[in-house]
Formats: sequence, structure tokens, C-alpha cells
Amino acid sequence: MSYRLVTLNSGNKIPSIGLGTYNIPGSKTTQIVYEALKVGYKSFDTAVLYGNEEEVIAGISQFLKDNKDVKRSDIFYTTKLWNNQVGKNETTKAINKMMEQIGDLEYIDMLLIHSPLPGKQRRLDAWKIMQEAVAQGKIKNIGVSNYGPQHIEELLNWSELKIPPAVNQIEISPWCMRDEIANWCLNKNIQVEAYAPLTHGQRLQKQEPEFAQIMKKYNKTAAQILIKWSLQKGYIPLPKTATPSRLKENLEVNDFELTPEEINIISQEDVHDPTDWETFDAP
Ligand SMILES: NC(=O)c1ccc[n+]([C@@H]2O[C@H](COP(=O)([O-])OP(=O)(O)OC[C@H]3O[C@@H](n4cnc5c(N)ncnc54)[C@H](OP(=O)(O)O)[C@@H]3O)[C@@H](O)[C@H]2O)c1
Repeated sequence: MSYRLVTLNSGNKIPSIGLGTYNIPGSKTTQIVYEALKVGYKSFDTAVLYGNEEEVIAGISQFLKDNKDVKRSDIFYTTKLWNNQVGKNETTKAINKMMEQIGDLEYIDMLLIHSPLPGKQRRLDAWKIMQEAVAQGKIKNIGVSNYGPQHIEELLNWSELKIPPAVNQIEISPWCMRDEIANWCLNKNIQVEAYAPLTHGQRLQKQEPEFAQIMKKYNKTAAQILIKWSLQKGYIPLPKTATPSRLKENLEVNDFELTPEEINIISQEDVHDPTDWETFDAP
């Protein structure tokens, strides 16, 4: 198996690596998801924003039809509520639509609030509806994305909280470390999903000599070293690729272990260079 299973605070398990699907064109998504399942991916991260949920579902569905030895419960399907779907009526409507789309998959493994930007009242109203959807069996786990500790505290201190967030999905790479927030989450038993673990591809071409030496030592690509770094930091990386040959490459990270010194060399604690949005200070 090319991944291990991480136990969430819900008691359910999630694969330690997931395929990111942002920016995979709709026309290619079903095929890429199918190919990914063939090489061993079991977890898929999409969002309403990405406009490819139906295609991700179609790829999984087809694979399950063609491979009777793989069970629905072996697969982990994550999607996210976009900002305009966060709120009492908005979230109810969004989940109803997702349930119409889900088809043979029958349930959503993880639903995230994509960002805290909708504001406190709408965040909490949405969470209430999400908790109800879990009770109804529509969704197995619920979580957040791009939340700062104060947004999570708001949830944890809320009198109507029944289900704490299972994950916080945030951007993390050696050039955007976020150790403080990540450790804060892990200490609260909230798993950290690392998005853009490959820096959107921006730092894969040219490496510092010390990084290149580590690649050479293990005979691994930059992408593989970054994915391993993320796993050894205790995160769940979500590398995206729309290139079939890279799907396999990005999973081949089990035959080596970075030393603590190498983790330090790769970590760029003094650099803060996110490739995506930052919403931690949102009111
Ligand atoms: N919650 C949020 O707000 C949020 C924000 C951003 C992302 N995400 C999630 O996290 C996932 C990953 O982030 P991301 O897509 O932004 O960026 P990423 O995974 O850091 O990087 C993807 C880029 O790296 C390239 N790449 C992948 N594997 C490679 C390899 N082995 N060698 C060379 N290049 C490689 C890809 O090219 P090709 O595709 O052309 O192969 C693509 O250009 C997303 O897809 C999404 O699911 C969530």
C-alpha cells in the first residue's frame, strides 16, 4: 500500500496522501482520477470552486464498477463549501445539491468549509447544518480550511458544538511552514492537510545545492522530497498533478526516510512565501 491510514478525531480513517484536483480541467478529471486509482490513490480532494466534483465522482464510480475487489469504504472523497454556500439556507441547499450529485458513492467522506471569510454567524450556522448532515449519514466527517486558531476556538467554544473539526486544510511547504498553527491543530487532535505541498510547481525546477544533494542521496525528485517532508512533519499532503506519469512518482515515497538534519535543511523557517490566499486574520 502506498499510503498509511491516519485516524481522525471522528474515529474514521483517512489516507495519508490525497490527490489534489484544483485546476484539473473538467474534461480530463474523470480520466486522471481513474488513472490515480489504478496506481494506488484512494483519497481525492475537490471543491465546489474547482467545478469538477461531478467528474471526480464519475472517475471513482467507474473504477468501483470495474474493480469489484475495491469497496466504496476504501475510498475517501472530500469536497468543500464555497464562501457563498456558508450559512443556514446556503449550506442546506449546497448539501442537497451535493447529495444529488453523489450517485453511487452515496455519501461524502469529508465536507470542509473552504474559508472563514463568510464571518462568524454564517460559519456557525453552516456548522450546525453540517453536523445534522453527519447525523443523517450524508457526510462522514466535517472540517475546515484556511482557518486560524481563533476561528477553530470559536467552534470549539460554541455551545451547540457536537462534532469538532476533523481537519484544517492549509497551505504548507518548506517555504510556507506555518509550524505554529499546524502544531496548535495537531495538539487539539485536528489533523493538518497540507495544500500546495509542491508550491503550485513554482519551486520544483531549481533547487538549492543542499536540497539537490538530498535528492541525489535518495535518488528522488524534488516533488518526492517535498511530499516526504510533509508526511514526516505529520501532515496529510494533497499533491496535485494532471500528468499521468507524475501520479505514480508522487506516491513513491515509502522507500526512504529523511533524517532530522535533512528535514531541517529543507525547512525554510525564515521564509514566508505562500502561493495562495491567507485568511487567518479574517473577522
Ligand atoms: N483549501 C484551499 O484553499 C486550497 C488551495 C489550494 C489548493 N488546495 C488543494 O490542494 C491541492 C494541491 O495544491 P495545488 O494544486 O495548488 O498545488 P501543488 O500540488 O503544490 O502543485 C501542483 C503543480 O505541481 C506540478 N507537479 C505535480 N507533481 C509534479 C512532479 N512530480 N514533478 C513536477 N511537477 C509536478 C503540477 O503539474 P501538472 O499538473 O501539470 O503535472 C502542478 O503544476 C489542490 O489541487 C487542491 O486540491 C486547496
